[in-house]
Parts: sequence; structure tokens; C-alpha cells
Amino acid sequence: MSDPRTATRLPDQLPDDPMHWADVWLDDAQAENDQPNPNSMTLVTVNNEGRPSARVVLCKQFVANPGYLVFYTNYRSLKAREIEENADVAIVFHWDKRGRQIRLQGKAVKSPDLESDHYFATRHWGAQLGALGSDQSANLDSRDALITQIRDRASALGIALGENTQTLASNDTPSIQRPQHWGGFRVWAYSVELWKDGKDRIHDRALWTRDIQQTSDHDFSVSPWIGNRLQP
Ligand SMILES: Cc1cc2nc3c(=O)[nH]c(=O)nc-3n(C[C@H](O)[C@H](O)[C@H](O)COP(=O)(O)O)c2cc1C
Repeated sequence: MSDPRTATRLPDQLPDDPMHWADVWLDDAQAENDQPNPNSMTLVTVNNEGRPSARVVLCKQFVANPGYLVFYTNYRSLKAREIEENADVAIVFHWDKRGRQIRLQGKAVKSPDLESDHYFATRHWGAQLGALGSDQSANLDSRDALITQIRDRASALGIALGENTQTLASNDTPSIQRPQHWGGFRVWAYSVELWKDGKDRIHDRALWTRDIQQTSDHDFSVSPWIGNRLQP
């Protein structure tokens, strides 16, 4: 069986499950650490009028089995509102230096609160404050208005900020609870394409699909993957 880390193309006998390959490709990009955000991915949501919108977010967890990934965001952001209207999303990872691309389609559902709490607690307090203080995607009168909003929300929690929002007025390390408007989304994959570049642009591609059925607020049951090689 070929090793996804070193293989220069997809094996003749396609792997039964693309998520393990995808996981290794993501790990590999993160291990090499030769680009600022190797876990960045383009996320496309589609609103209820069928209009798509794309933006970059960070993949914070990749669970090859049973097959979902997690990103974190503001639950009132445009992307989150669009996911509420339509849970189907598309995702693209691209690692230029490795000539690798992963395309994924799936259903997005909110992560369990406890999982979001745990992740939020691992963030630096500055990033926690940013999550608390921003109504992501809402209109803003000025940068100053945002700083005032952040300062006011911190102050409501008894946290006094220094000259700018990056410094504290005292040496206390603030403890900020995860705000209800911020948390994770799990994207349960039902379609995954692995792409490896090839000489003369004769690339290597394969697409796997499966059925997924929602079984609870956060989880799905999944059927086995079916893989097919595609023309480049
Ligand atoms: C490298 C990079 C990483 C980002 N990571 C995140 C992220 O993990 N979560 C997030 O909400 N926004 C992230 N953003 C900002 C988003 O691209 C986007 O501006 C924001 O989420 C608002 O999107 P929306 O209005 O479509 O909801 C990131 C941007 C870049 C360039």
C-alpha cells in the first residue's frame, strides 16, 4: 500500500477511505511548517437564494473516522447564517509546494458546546477577547467604535484594558468564558476529491462519495466510501 506522505501519485488501487489520506496530507503540511497557515481552507456557503460566498477559515480538527472536520467562527457571522439556511458547504485545501489539493463537500452542524468550550479555553486571552468583542460580519461605523465595543465588553466582565486592546491594565490574567455567539462547526463529509499534480499537467484525481444521515444535533451515520478515478 503506498504511503500518502511520500506517494507522487494516487495508488492504482484507490484507498477505501479518502479521509485518512486527506488527514495525512494536512498533517504533512502542518509538520513541514513552511507556510503561515497550512491548515487554512476556503469555505463556501450557499444562501437560500442559491448565492454562494467564499472565505478562508482554519481547520482546527480533522477526524478521519467517522469523517468530519472542525472550524471555529462567530455564530452570527454571514457564513453561520448561511449554514443555518443551508447546511451544505464546500471546502478546498491547497498546498502549492506539495502540488496537492483536497476538495470536500459536506453538511455543517454546530459542534457540541463542551467541545467549543474546551477549544475556547485553549486560546490566548487576546483571541478570546477578540471573539467576545466582535460581532463578525455586522456593519461597523469606525475602527474606534470596535475598540470601544471590545473595551466595554471586557469592562462588563471586570477586565480593564490598557492603552490598546492588546494590553491589560493590571497583571491579572483574565478568565473569559466562551461567548454563546462563538463556537465550532463540524463539517461531515459526503464527497472528497484528492488531487495530486502531475508532469505536463496530467494530474491525478479521484473522487469518493458516500451517504450520510443525521442521527443527532452533532452527528451522522455514514455509509462506506465509493471511490472513482477522474480525468484531470
Ligand atoms: C488565513 C486566514 C484564516 C482565517 N481563519 C478564520 C477562522 O478560523 N474563523 C473565522 O471565523 N474567520 C477566519 N478568517 C476570516 C474569514 O476569512 C472571514 O473574513 C470572516 O470569517 C468573516 O466571514 P463571513 O462574513 O463570510 O462570515 C480567516 C482569514 C484568513 C485570511
